[in-house]
Amino acid sequence: MASTRRHFLMSTGAAGAYAAGLAAQDKPVSANDRVQVATIGLGGMGTGDTESSTSVPGVELVAIADVYRGRLDHAKEIFGKQVFTTRDYREVLARKDVDAVIIATPDHWHSQISIDAMQAGKDVYCEKPMVQRVDDGKKVIEAQQKTGRIMQVGSQRVSSIIYKKAQELYRSGAIGELNMVEAWWDRNSALGAWQYSIPLDATPENIDWDRFLGRAPKVAFDPVRLFRWRNYRDYGTGVAGDLFVHLFSGMHFITGAIGPARVYATGGLRFWKDGRDVPDVLLGLYDYAAAEAHPAFNLALRVNFVDGAGESSGFRFIGTEGIMKVDGGVTLDKQPRETEPGYTIETFTDDMQKRFLKEYRTKHPPQPMNADSIRPVSEEKFLPPRGYSDHRDHHRNFIEAVRTRKPVVEDPVFGFRAAGPALLSNLSYFEQRVCKWDPKTMTLLV
Ligand SMILES: NC(=O)c1ccc[n+]([C@@H]2O[C@H](COP(=O)([O-])OP(=O)(O)OC[C@H]3O[C@@H](n4cnc5c(N)ncnc54)[C@H](O)[C@@H]3O)[C@@H](O)[C@H]2O)c1
Repeated sequence: MASTRRHFLMSTGAAGAYAAGLAAQDKPVSANDRVQVATIGLGGMGTGDTESSTSVPGVELVAIADVYRGRLDHAKEIFGKQVFTTRDYREVLARKDVDAVIIATPDHWHSQISIDAMQAGKDVYCEKPMVQRVDDGKKVIEAQQKTGRIMQVGSQRVSSIIYKKAQELYRSGAIGELNMVEAWWDRNSALGAWQYSIPLDATPENIDWDRFLGRAPKVAFDPVRLFRWRNYRDYGTGVAGDLFVHLFSGMHFITGAIGPARVYATGGLRFWKDGRDVPDVLLGLYDYAAAEAHPAFNLALRVNFVDGAGESSGFRFIGTEGIMKVDGGVTLDKQPRETEPGYTIETFTDDMQKRFLKEYRTKHPPQPMNADSIRPVSEEKFLPPRGYSDHRDHHRNFIEAVRTRKPVVEDPVFGFRAAGPALLSNLSYFEQRVCKWDPKTMTLLV
């Protein structure tokens, strides 16, 4: 599993052998099966999304919208001169030859463009987090249900064969009764902390500043705010919306959970004091009530952008019978408990120790220590094939739904059930309070 977006892009770029494997596995496509896509927001992820989407047989890129001219020019360099480009996404939505759009803009545009696109009759693949504000969630769900368009939210773990394996193991009772999940995403680099490069031609002439700002407060032109938009709450969603959301969607997929009842987050801005208004260390605690798919359990999430010992991310699902770790693969660790309860009698009087031991040994007669009494400690690992990309699988699932009109794996309800608690983590952090959430109705209670 890619630990950062930059790593992710490197891994998709190097996946030639994987692409050849895909070609063998995908069915031939008839002319009627052709799906014409357009991308809105062609930065790092929009480029990765477009590459994954067009790697699915029969998918053709016809248009790109972006507010920065350099990215439109680059679109022609990588995808060909025939691709229509514009700064105004509404021109893309007005085109009859566009069946589906990929939305990979900064977070504050996700809900508006998704709703506009579905109302214009387009299917939508929208990057995570599905929404920037909790209030937007139901509006997107409603638009999708009213228009009947296909909408996939872009947390690719939901399509991952690694997470599928973890789901199977979890459902088969491999770790017994779940009581806790821990997940983390730690980074140790400027790029990991979102200090992305700013092109030398980032001028007001080359950027449609007002269209970038959208509903955000009007501020004077400042390319840092566009190219490093994650650092500002006006456009992004902090580490919670950027990374916790992936952890929520992966965990919900594996366990069948739909969200916590209580959310508490704390943290701080410890190191990357570059003008950002969001923390670089965030810890979240979440209470999940018992449901059909799982017992009551607690979730602890962490993002630390100042991990002086390196970068890592993963999950630990902790149960009565074992621990399932999920990262680039799945690892199952088991160690049976001792069968005897044991005793702590040293501080009792000598007489009490004797009487206690006598009674204990009556209940638990001494067992021979032989080969049979050795408890097996086991570790079982499941690794995906080399070059595997869950991102391509996620796009393949979307295109399949566009063709068949069958449901996607990550519809807006699933997307909002992951984004909602991620956004509440910010609310809890900034307002220093516990938030209560109804995961069924997706409503903030207090
Ligand atoms: N699924 C994943 O693993 C993953 C990884 C990285 C990013 N993302 C998501 O993808 C989205 C984009 O992130 P990114 O890292 O590619 O950011 P980016 O800054 O590299 O790209 C965003 C692009 O959107 C353009 N843009 C801004 N406002 C626009 C508008 N109104 N209309 C059209 N274009 C507009 C910008 O000019 C820029 O080219 C974010 O929502 C992010 O959370 C998802």
